[in-house]
Amino acid sequence: MFLFQRIVLFLFLYLSGAQYLFAQWPLSDSTERAIDRLLAAMTLEEKIGQMNQYNGFWDVTGPAPKAGADKFKYDHFKQGLVGSVLNVRGVTQVRALQELVVKQSRLGIPLLFGFDAVHGYNTVLPIPLAEAASWDLPAIERSARVSATEAAASGINWTFAPMVDISRDARWGRVMEGAGEDPFLGAKIAVARVKGFQGNDFSSPFNILATAKHFAGYGFAEGGRDYNTVDVNALTLHNTILPPFYAAVNGGVASVMNSFNIFNGVPATASHFLVQDILKRNWKFKGVVVSDWGSGIEMIDHGFAENLSQVASLAANAGSDVDMESYAYVNHLSEEVRKGNVSIATIDQSVRRVLRLKFMLGLFKDPYKYCDSTRERVYSMHPEHSQVARDMAKRSMVLLKNEKQLLPLVEKGKKIAVIGALAADKNSPLGNWRLAAKDSSAVSLLEGFDAASISYQYAPGVKLVAGDPVHFVQELAINTTDTSGMAYAISIARTADIVVMMLGEHGLQSGEGRSRAQLNLPGLQQQVLEAVYAVNPNVVLVLTTGRPLAITWAAEHIPAILLAWQPGSQSGHAITDVLLGKYNPSGKLPMTFPRSDSQLPIYYNHFSTGRPGPKKEVFWSHYIDESHAPLYEFGFGKSYTHFSYSDLQLASRGDTVVVQVNLTNTGSVVGEEVAQLYIHDRFSSIVRPIRELKGFKKVQLAPGVSTTITFELPVSLLGYYNETGTLLLEPGWFDFYVGGSSAATLSTSFLYSKK
Ligand code: BGC
Repeated sequence: MFLFQRIVLFLFLYLSGAQYLFAQWPLSDSTERAIDRLLAAMTLEEKIGQMNQYNGFWDVTGPAPKAGADKFKYDHFKQGLVGSVLNVRGVTQVRALQELVVKQSRLGIPLLFGFDAVHGYNTVLPIPLAEAASWDLPAIERSARVSATEAAASGINWTFAPMVDISRDARWGRVMEGAGEDPFLGAKIAVARVKGFQGNDFSSPFNILATAKHFAGYGFAEGGRDYNTVDVNALTLHNTILPPFYAAVNGGVASVMNSFNIFNGVPATASHFLVQDILKRNWKFKGVVVSDWGSGIEMIDHGFAENLSQVASLAANAGSDVDMESYAYVNHLSEEVRKGNVSIATIDQSVRRVLRLKFMLGLFKDPYKYCDSTRERVYSMHPEHSQVARDMAKRSMVLLKNEKQLLPLVEKGKKIAVIGALAADKNSPLGNWRLAAKDSSAVSLLEGFDAASISYQYAPGVKLVAGDPVHFVQELAINTTDTSGMAYAISIARTADIVVMMLGEHGLQSGEGRSRAQLNLPGLQQQVLEAVYAVNPNVVLVLTTGRPLAITWAAEHIPAILLAWQPGSQSGHAITDVLLGKYNPSGKLPMTFPRSDSQLPIYYNHFSTGRPGPKKEVFWSHYIDESHAPLYEFGFGKSYTHFSYSDLQLASRGDTVVVQVNLTNTGSVVGEEVAQLYIHDRFSSIVRPIRELKGFKKVQLAPGVSTTITFELPVSLLGYYNETGTLLLEPGWFDFYVGGSSAATLSTSFLYSKK
């Protein structure tokens, strides 16, 4: 009988023409009608099943439950009570589970398979914050494409990326996952990533659903402490937090994930205001809202819901369509419907969204679309992906300082010492969120030097202490007590011509749950740095990190600093390419580097105070024991060549402000520059930041060559949102700045007058 029903259902869908519509977004009427018919055939429990997501705590080919599997009933798959899973991957596993559901559940509705393919899958690309430093949208899109291709080949059809949370606080470990502090750059990168994951056509088995997360405000956790309270005003919400989400939604993102935090005193997962009003009503988002891991059940700890039944009705009514890891919908939602706390219409709306994604991907036509073992073999760690990873890593690096012409390295005839445990480490460069990658599979810096036939002497200085990669304790990463390796490191530094030191954070010291109160070089690294510098000042510091660090001493003393971030699988090769000048660094900071962690939050697009100073007397907005300036400002980054900007021109053409500037490569090598355009609204009914990024262009120039760069700025970009989210475009004077960072000095002004 089940078989008969499935045949009827299939015919329904087939004849309705739904199979031709999978690639389109938003979907056409006939698919919506096919969903209507499917909804009519479903029981309440089956509908709620589509809203229920389970984690892969088991071996599906077994099934042999692993730790955690006691939380759900395995039979739920056969009963059609599960709509999607996360962390089930690999073609064999995915096919086995899909088959179980498609063949044995009453309606055979295929599952979605979700996974955090954040910056790569088997091949690991640079951490997202590093990629943001490239300001290179086509490259970022290519990188997401690699993640999608490998994940899709392994059975995954839904990634929980990109994270588009803006953050101004480097203590927050998850800054490594985002695009930094600026909403304009963040919005552009969000779109590039969504395009990279989803492509243009969901009929392709290489395209997967993307997720803009975490909606909303998660990056503003107080004190940078993960999961902490968020208390921001409506202006920050509309002008800073929401723009990347809005861009992702307009860019066709298939899903949005709730955040863990409260917003206006309400957990985001139950926020009618955020999800129903802004996302679904105002923005007309048609995809799925998935909760974050247990963000439903956490409403109890927030002091908002008393029990899981309440969690279920609050989240469902707020428009959170899928429950990840709270077990609230599967166990309590039908009862809440029966009690009248949640309407059937609400359930149907959520289920429709889930089914829509399944139609869009073509899973009703072919539930095993992502289950091709040949594809899995061919695309996992495809050599072209390594090329993309190496290229992306080079584009992501930021040259922070280069004195004494230490870089590019001229290694011939020079004695080189390499110091730092991280230079030999093959795990740290993968960064956090690299769940599908093989541990310790990155090319270390030493291996990069070997491959380039660079001779060197090596000393770790201070050792790494192995930690548990899942429940990693940050103090374990870099030794804090054992100084036994220091003498040897100092001895090889003393006799070297150049010392390359690779220092910074271990790759697992940033990411979820890894907030840090101090943004120093962890462990004894600062001590080694100073001791080495004392015997040999010709130090090139390769800084590896998942977040901005307060490296003020290094910035003052060390002549050359290359910020490599956590560059991914090809780390050592990419760093070597940059150190040798085979690639001229072109990255620019997507986040301000503070002088001290006590300056946080620090960001370039702040408001002016009433006492901006500087003044001779004490009564102006500053610190008496530290500068209030950043160490390196947003947008900053050097090159092995030099660029100069001149002749800034501005013209108004209809609703567009046309800004032109002349850019010249005044150095002696080819280089790329990210020209940045900032505005400042002098006076407005709600005060505006001292500078706001409104355009950027990355261009390559041969030495001695000049070019004209043109920015075409729609006047709407001169506007801003008020506290109700209405765009205000007010007449008045605007300052325009163009240059190589947010501290650009070349400026002109523009009077905007409404027609
Ligand atoms: C994270 C999400 C992630 C989810 C599933 C949560 O802890 O906050 O970003 O997608 O886990 O792995």
